[in-house]
Amino acid sequence: MTAIVPALTIEHVAVHFGGLVAIADMNFVVNGGELLSLIGPNGAGKTTAFNVITGFLKPSKGEVRYRGTSLNGLKPHQVASLGLVRTFQRTSVFRAHSVFDNVLTGLHLSGRSNLLDTLLRLPRERASEQELHDAAWEILTLVGIDKQAHELAGALPYGDQRLLGVALALAAKPSMLLLDEPVSGMNASETGRFMRLLAKLRDRGMTILLVEHDMPMVMGVSDRIVVLNYGRIIAEGPPAAIREDPEVIRAYLGQAGAKRAAHA
Ligand SMILES: Nc1ncnc2c1ncn2[C@@H]1O[C@H](COP(=O)(O)OP(=O)(O)O)[C@@H](O)[C@H]1O
Ligand SMILES: [Mg+2]
Repeated sequence: MTAIVPALTIEHVAVHFGGLVAIADMNFVVNGGELLSLIGPNGAGKTTAFNVITGFLKPSKGEVRYRGTSLNGLKPHQVASLGLVRTFQRTSVFRAHSVFDNVLTGLHLSGRSNLLDTLLRLPRERASEQELHDAAWEILTLVGIDKQAHELAGALPYGDQRLLGVALALAAKPSMLLLDEPVSGMNASETGRFMRLLAKLRDRGMTILLVEHDMPMVMGVSDRIVVLNYGRIIAEGPPAAIREDPEVIRAYLGQAGAKRAAHA
């Protein structure tokens, strides 16, 4: 029997913007090795939660802990150095450099740490240039953009740019990946490819927090789903239970109704 170990713990977190309560007393854990999706209608507080966890926003109340270490007061780069790595919407890549060089630079910039060593089966001692090259190829192959290795990062099609964003996040040696609406703007085939990559990373032991508003999208890949609405968690559980949850259905139908009204 394998013990379930909490990786990330969110405890009594609240975020107030002036009088607006963006998040009210939020509590959940992400277990080691699981893919947890945080979903909810637009304005539910997902990005706010994401920003608190990644150190971009200080909570008004409460605490976030990662493997026992409090993240309170840490800056984004300090959170990242603990192994909690996020992807960026506008991928911060060197557009005029090759895809390969971008990943290699990422590997040069990051220190050594545990999970990627396991993921890529690297030795623990300081990596040689050859090992960094090999690691870059392994990341590109894992992510599925190895054939574009010698293309300019800025010239990649949209879906591949996002995959490069994941490759760069992996080059930072994460033990947990965090993604905020990573498939927004992608077409159906790019989205399918991206979701399969997330499932593959999860299968290799990566802990993943996926923030997404589209519920059908996360059904196939999530181990568990936490649903936010107006800054409060209204449901939490495996996809099958969330899909049937009357309060979740109401929250999503409510949004569809509001959209229809706005467009009427
Ligand atoms: N910097 C901010 N200042 C004031 N209000 C904000 C700020 N960021 C978000 N909000 C508000 O907080 C609520 C939650 O927003 P957000 O976390 O972006 O939702 P989601 O990502 O789920 O769509 C919304 O009502 C939004 O308008
Ligand atoms: Mg958002």
